Amino acid sequence: MESPNKIENFKLDLPRRPRRMRRTASLRGLAQETFVRCEDLIAPLIVKESGEKEPVGSMPGLFRLNLEELVRECEELAKLGIPAVAIFPSLDPSLKDEKGTEAGNPETLVLRAVRAIKKAVPSLSVVTDVALDPYTSHGHDGVLNDEGSYVMNDETVARLCEMAVLQAEAGVDIVAPSDMMDGRIGAIRAALDEAGYIDTAIMSYSAKFASAYYGPFREAVGSAKAAGTTLLGKETYQMNPANRREAIMDAMMDEDEGADFLMVKPAGAYLDIIRELRDASQVTLAAYQVSGEYAQIHAAAKLGWLDYEKTRDESLLAIKRAGADVILTYFAKEIAQKLRDRG
Ligand code: PBG
Repeated sequence: MESPNKIENFKLDLPRRPRRMRRTASLRGLAQETFVRCEDLIAPLIVKESGEKEPVGSMPGLFRLNLEELVRECEELAKLGIPAVAIFPSLDPSLKDEKGTEAGNPETLVLRAVRAIKKAVPSLSVVTDVALDPYTSHGHDGVLNDEGSYVMNDETVARLCEMAVLQAEAGVDIVAPSDMMDGRIGAIRAALDEAGYIDTAIMSYSAKFASAYYGPFREAVGSAKAAGTTLLGKETYQMNPANRREAIMDAMMDEDEGADFLMVKPAGAYLDIIRELRDASQVTLAAYQVSGEYAQIHAAAKLGWLDYEKTRDESLLAIKRAGADVILTYFAKEIAQKLRDRG
């Protein structure tokens, strides 16, 4: 008698065969659940006062742009269909001090940049960070106590409110507190409303982890010092990467305080947090694919160890699939170009 296990006779009696839907490109297309669209992407850009554009060492393709170049870049991004840009200033060290005084200057670089962009491309939404780190000599996101051993919460929040109102006045569509102080969303909402900016939205960096993935960005804007001090690290205000429940709790507080967007940052190593927040809240959810995530894909591709385009596309798709509505990514422009070229 023939054995039923003989390879040529082997047949599975399966009612469902998922591979049927993977057989051809068109069937795979019909079955695709998640897409990265140009409309989902926010491009982070770095502005500097003057001089030629400078490449950022560990972030190929990213440059510190002067005001004129920044406006030109925004025009190109808008033409490509990118809905929003997030502007970060890289300030001359001579403008930085212990208290980050420059953040309260109505003519500070980032505010001039915002006015120039809104004048040239009014349809492009502009996002700006509300945090003191580009302005402080120590690189922390807030004001230190006299011993330099603690970032003072409430004093910092007062400064953030002032910054947010100046940004709204300059025409920013979305202010994005990235400092991780307690109570800042409610305080900023109240300050904006009081000043008459009821329609300026708040994107809260709500689950922002104390991450090693920010390294290249800190080099780009010159805030690396804080990360390196042994006396005080950013983990006294940014979240512990080990904590899931705390991330959800803190984000829900931001929702209650009036955040229009919640954000998870970094994105790729925190997909579980993105998914959980997506399920816990109805507020629009953003994820920030940070500098280190961008740098590691570039580095591995340069070594010939990973396929650049495929890894890039998969990294963004994973963030969408996890539940992000919006992605801040340094890949924004090239994704928009690719989508345009494919029609
Ligand atoms: C700080 C801020 C950081 C980033 C955006 N806003 C760095 C930090 O917390 O030190 C990082 C962005 C990136 O790594 O791409 N307010």
